[in-house]
Amino acid sequence: MDNFSADQHAAAVDQYIYDALELHDPLFEAGRERAHAAGLPQIEVSAAQGKFLKLLIELLGAQRVLEVGTLGGFSTSWMARAVGPQGQVVTCEFEPLHARIATENLRQADLEQRVQINVGAAANTLGELIAQGTEPFDVIFIDADKRNNVTYLELAMDLSHAGTLIIVDNVVRGGAILQEATDAETQDPDIRGIQQTYRWLAEDPRVDATALQTVGSKGWDGLAFARVL
Ligand code: DHB
Ligand code: MG
Repeated sequence: MDNFSADQHAAAVDQYIYDALELHDPLFEAGRERAHAAGLPQIEVSAAQGKFLKLLIELLGAQRVLEVGTLGGFSTSWMARAVGPQGQVVTCEFEPLHARIATENLRQADLEQRVQINVGAAANTLGELIAQGTEPFDVIFIDADKRNNVTYLELAMDLSHAGTLIIVDNVVRGGAILQEATDAETQDPDIRGIQQTYRWLAEDPRVDATALQTVGSKGWDGLAFARVL
């Protein structure tokens, strides 16, 4: 342990949790491996986080879940399992390859009937869902291009009801959110997007929010949680 960095130690503890709580799901892990083999970025939620999303959805009795950022469908799979056979997950993905892999992964996990994958820019998809008068969602998980978080949050409000839980991933980014913009043009637009997320969550009177830092297999990061009032 002496030569372990704090990051490695936290990742090893995540592995301990994964083993101890038997978070291994063979179909989900096969999907994760399929996504990695296809070259998708290895930035999906951890299994412990996926299980946390599942428990939250079950505790809320959520039947309708909206996800922004499908990637290979790992978080999607955990959430699709949580909503049960009568529930629905609507998920948005910009990259056609990611959507194809996610479709295959959901099919292999026998969850494809509960999931609608929309390929394209999520802002357009959410706008279309609003225009169609889509029934509001009980849980909304935002985990895509961070620079557009506030756009997604604004659109999410029109797809919510009082009591909807909005979850935003990656709101700490190894502490990079403390970066100040000496020149607004040079600051990482994704970090700026996360900082704007905090301002929006604090200032918008329609939500009540907090954020929690996390460590583990994904390094030092965090999740924000907002209740729609
Ligand atoms: C990145 C994106 C994520 O959603 C995540 O959970 C981790 C990293 C990224 O773009 O680097
Ligand atoms: Mg993420």
